[in-house]
Amino acid sequence: MDDPADQDFPYPPELESHGPARIIAMCNQKGGVGKTTTSINLAAALAEYGRRVLLIDFDPQGAASAGLGVNARALDRTIYTELLAPKPDITEIIHETIVDGLHVVPANIDLSAAEIQLVSEVGREHTLARVLRPVMDDYDVIIIDCQPSLGLLTVNALTAAHGVIIPLEAEFFAMRGVALLVEQIERVTERLNPKLRLDGVLLTMVDNRTLHAREVIASVEEGFGDRVFDTKISRTVKFPDATIAAEPITTYAPTHNGAHAYRRLAREVIARGHSA
Ligand SMILES: Nc1ncnc2c1ncn2[C@@H]1O[C@H](COP(=O)(O)OP(=O)(O)O)[C@@H](O)[C@H]1O
Ligand SMILES: [Mg+2]
Repeated sequence: MDDPADQDFPYPPELESHGPARIIAMCNQKGGVGKTTTSINLAAALAEYGRRVLLIDFDPQGAASAGLGVNARALDRTIYTELLAPKPDITEIIHETIVDGLHVVPANIDLSAAEIQLVSEVGREHTLARVLRPVMDDYDVIIIDCQPSLGLLTVNALTAAHGVIIPLEAEFFAMRGVALLVEQIERVTERLNPKLRLDGVLLTMVDNRTLHAREVIASVEEGFGDRVFDTKISRTVKFPDATIAAEPITTYAPTHNGAHAYRRLAREVIARGHSA
């Protein structure tokens, strides 16, 4: 696999043993910015590098499940049932995918009720962390694909996580609303989860040739400095195509630039110490 950018971040060393997992929440309360696409493809790329990866679909839309070939609508048990169960067992709801080493915990529309049902629970913000605990030693990375909201489910993801990645679509209003998200991350860090940190901001759907895209990148870099990932994801129809094929781009179009970009992001995430 010829990747012109391969020299930028080293190939990750092989792991001799696995776990404990580092948990990454993929967050932005805006929809359509590339959270699910990044969750699936970063997860698949990390798995290609020998990492054991669990992707938690934490959006009632179930796009991450569908994107990895799991028809969550037909399932009785999903992340929703385990969040509400008196004795949750996450091992019962883990599905294999076409990618070796990448497993997924599916979600469906049932999850939209969880936000209200959890309100009366003791320690409601820690519910997801509690559900994940039994498999922490089985995985190197757990990625949580959040729904587009800052509500209780997202707070649960941030409370369970070690790091947050914020995908931003490289367009004029990219930064709109990001201050609110950063405030929410700070509140969770202060009150619920002191280990939480912002791993990075990822620019997605970049139209490389346009001056506009370069201006957006410059303004995001001005705001976030070196927390902006050096890796940028270009806009290409291969991503929606791969979604329809229910595969990561790394298997659907393994030599496409989009696949190389997510492999490079995986190497950057590892090189920055955001993962094993
Ligand atoms: N780099 C990209 N280039 C082109 N289309 C993309 C890219 N990333 C995501 N998309 C498409 O944009 C839409 C929204 O992306 P998605 O990852 O579902 O965002 P979110 O999870 O934040 O709502 C999807 O149809 C997806 O296939
Ligand atoms: Mg999504």
